[in-house]
Amino acid sequence: MVKKNTCVFISGQGSNLKNLIQQSRDYNFPINIKLVISNKKNAFGLNFAKINSIPYIIINTEIRNYENKIIYNLKKYKINFICLAGYMKIISKVFLKKYGKLIINIHPSLLPKFKGLNTFSRILKNKEKKTGCTVHYVNEKLDAGNIILQKSFYINSKDDEKILRIKTQRLEYKIFPEAIIKIFRNN
Ligand code: GAR
Repeated sequence: MVKKNTCVFISGQGSNLKNLIQQSRDYNFPINIKLVISNKKNAFGLNFAKINSIPYIIINTEIRNYENKIIYNLKKYKINFICLAGYMKIISKVFLKKYGKLIINIHPSLLPKFKGLNTFSRILKNKEKKTGCTVHYVNEKLDAGNIILQKSFYINSKDDEKILRIKTQRLEYKIFPEAIIKIFRNN
């Protein structure tokens, strides 16, 4: 099997990145992580790139045309698959067109519910019975591309934001790799 040359985009802790790096060591897992891109220079997740000797690039999104720098590096590293893993920046229409290959994202809610930011506080405020996480294709609309996989759990009355995050992320570590396997199963 030819593994997909993958770039993971992060902004923060990078626990999903860490998990994907571990998974990709498996011969049968369909991706190899060749590049990590962060829009935050102090993102903790960059450490996982460093300790695993994966090239990483920090992008200053304040600069005009910063997406061109991303495109340049995606070409340089022959990237043909992108995973957004806690990347807190919207991907522009122009970028999607220029890149033209698969991009997926993980989101900590049962989409189409609770798109966007501050997911856990809104879930609690709305007194939801269930929540979970979703892996979906990225299109030009925020958190709106076709769903690849979703997993849910029941919310306990004692769950606060912190606990919801922990429970959600535990599921994320399962569904992100499962979704990737599902995408490339027949390739
Ligand atoms: C993840 O829980 C992911 O679902 C969320 O950010 C977290 C990143 O954690 N993404 C979004 O909220 C995107 N809208 P990580 O950096 O430890 O992987």
